[in-house]
This record gives sequence, C-alpha cells and structure tokens, in this order.
Amino acid sequence: MTNRDIAVVVVAAGRGERLGASKPKAFVDLVGKPLLSHAIESIAALPHLAQLIIAVPASHLIEANDVANELVVDGDVQLDIVVGGQTRQASISNALAVLSPGAGVVLVHDAARAMTPTSVFSRVANSVRETGLSTVPVIKIADTIKRIDGDLVRETIDRNILRAAQTPQGFVAADLVRAYAEAKAEYTDDAALMQAAGLEVRAVEGHDQAFKVTTPEDLAAAEMRFGGHYRSGIGTDVHRFSQNSDKPLYLGTIVWPGERGLDGHSDGDAVSHAIVDAMLSAAGLGDIGSNFGVDRPEFAGANGKVFIEGALELLREAGFAVQNVAVQIIGNRPKVAPNRLVVEQALTAIIGAPVALSATTTDGLGFLGNTEGVAAVATALIAESRAFRASDDRLAK
Ligand code: CTP
Ligand code: MG
Repeated sequence: MTNRDIAVVVVAAGRGERLGASKPKAFVDLVGKPLLSHAIESIAALPHLAQLIIAVPASHLIEANDVANELVVDGDVQLDIVVGGQTRQASISNALAVLSPGAGVVLVHDAARAMTPTSVFSRVANSVRETGLSTVPVIKIADTIKRIDGDLVRETIDRNILRAAQTPQGFVAADLVRAYAEAKAEYTDDAALMQAAGLEVRAVEGHDQAFKVTTPEDLAAAEMRFGGHYRSGIGTDVHRFSQNSDKPLYLGTIVWPGERGLDGHSDGDAVSHAIVDAMLSAAGLGDIGSNFGVDRPEFAGANGKVFIEGALELLREAGFAVQNVAVQIIGNRPKVAPNRLVVEQALTAIIGAPVALSATTTDGLGFLGNTEGVAAVATALIAESRAFRASDDRLAK
C-alpha cells in the first residue's frame, strides 16, 4: 500500500456566466492571481497527494498546464489537464477517465472555491479513509430558512438540522467511478449522485473560506478579505508641444487626430508616463527614469504601452496587482472629451484594471494655460498579493 493514495479532481471548466468576466471564472484574478492558482496552492500542500486532475475549457489547456506545473513542484505528483464537458458532472466524468489506478481516495473540488484551506482537504480525505464513507464538508446556515409557495411563506424550517454543502467532497475511488458510470441524471453535487447510487454520505466540518465565488459581488468581497493590503502612488509628467506641426499627438498610448504632438525622447505621452510613475511609486519601485532610463536609445520614440507593460511586469515580480488608475490631463489643449472613452478603454485593456481619464485647465495661467505644454497627474491603487498568505490558515493541517 503506497503512502500516496489521494487524487484530487479540480473542476475549472465552467464559463462563469454569473460572474460575467471576459474569461472563464477559474482564470479570473483574485488578489493578483487566478482563482485556479489559489486552489492549486492549497492542494499542492496536501499530504499523500498522488495525482491532480484539472478539467478546464479547451481554450485554456496551456494556461492551466503552466499554472499547475509552476505550483506543483513535487515530482511524485502526477499532473493531468483534461478538457471539461458541458456540465460540471460531464467535466468530472472526463477527469475520472484519467484517474490513476493507484488512487484510493478521490477528492472533487470546485476551482471557484479557491480559498479553501488545505486543512479541509485533509479532514475530508481522513474521513473517507477512516470510515470508507463518501464525505462532504458542511457549514451551519446563519439565515432563518423559509419554505415558500409562490409568494406565501408556508413554514420556518429548523435551521439546526440544515447545513450548506461545500467542496472538496471525498470518495472511495472505486465507488465514485462506479457511481459516475451508472449515473442517469444530473446532480447538483457529487454527494447527491452517490446517494442516488445508494451510498451513505458523511458530513464533516467545512470552512467559511471554502465559499464559492459566483457573482462579481463575491469576487469583490473576496478581494477585500484576502487582499486588503493596499498602497497608493502618484505620478506627474509634463511635455512641451512640438514645433513640428506634422508630429502626431500621443496621449494614453493612442493618437489624437488633428492635435499637435509633444516633444520628448519617447513619443511624449505624458498620460502614460504619469501612470507609470504612479504605479511604480505605489510599489516603492522608483520612477520611470530610474527603471527605464527613458533617454536610452531603445526607447527613442517608444509608445507609452512599452513603459506601462514594463512597469506592470516589475509590479508583478514584486507581488503587486493594480486595482485602479486615475489620470488627469492639465492644459488648454487638447480637448479631452472626444477621446476620453477611447483612451480609457485602451489603458484599461493594457493595465487589466479600470482606468479613468479626466481633464482640467489652469484658467489661462502659465505654460499649461498658454498651450506651451501638457501635464498629466496620475494616481494608482495597488494590492499586495503576497499579503494574504501570512494571514490565512491554508497551511494548518
Ligand atoms: N464547472 C465545470 N464544468 C462545467 C460547469 C462548471 O468544470 N461545465 C466547474 C466550474 O468551473 C466551477 C464549479 O464547476 O469551478 C462550480 O460551478 P459554478 O460555480 O456554477 O461555475 P460556472 O459554471 O463556471 O459558473 P456559472 O454557473 O455562473 O456559469
Ligand atoms: Mg455553473
């Protein structure tokens, strides 16, 4: 009997329609990294792990493979990434098709319950091993529960006999494979499928960190709870209008048609440069000059996007994720309103967090009032993505 007998199936193949993000839910960031990464981190710390099977959309096989290989450093753990199915149950079926014969216990886990501590995986696995029973982690219900009929309340149900089921749910491998092969209907969880197959299911204590991210509100609440270590930064940049009337104006990485360009070693994009300074300042990483030496030959005429992407990479390496950016153009020209949305969209796409652009004048005063130049001031809010690791208990076994 091998010491390693646990296979974990992570289902991450859902589209996340209720979350409504631009990518499948498991690949959406929480505190700077995808939900799937958080889930795998908890699982990688589980003792006796023999195999990790992850079901993902076909479009995300490579990304999932990269994430899993980075986080599962133990070479004795077998890693399999499979394409999920139309339903959660179909995704699990596909995963079970590659289940290692050496697995005695299978834990099935929703990637959407990304912050589930390792201790819950251990508790469920131990229960299966010790009792031979299917096991679900459950938590008490705080609300008073009503049975309704249309809009009429029929009764108040004693909540002391009720529990909310979470994942990971654990099973004797052979039982789960047989029950899945024989399943005739769709069940909302694996425990229900096992009960339909006539098997008894045991409940153990779940964890309030094992909640499921379903809606944008869930994600925002999770961000508040596990991120929370925020830092703000400020950046300013000024460029002079060019004497050359053919020079295009670049602000916020895009061209402003019909406007006179700005001088500068790069393309003079004061908006992008102020944003870079704000992001670096928030992270305590210096400024655009100290990091990119903007007079270096490779940056001659460089678009603002080059510096923004460079700064984002530095932030990522330091464990920070940008939450939002606000930038204001100060000057007589250009008129900002016609291009505001286009710039906001372009910058939001590059930065991966909301960017707001506003504008003001100086009442005709000074170099900004007489159209000698343009200034931009930016602020950035960033979150420290390492911070939550110190405060959670996922490593408590
Ligand atoms: N899941 C899956 N394959 C499916 C559907 C769901 O692997 N065909 C996974 C999801 O990725 C998620 C878990 O099952 O980790 C729980 O499902 P749910 O929270 O409903 O996620 P989604 O189906 O992605 O979300 P929605 O229902 O809002 O589209
Ligand atoms: Mg779903």
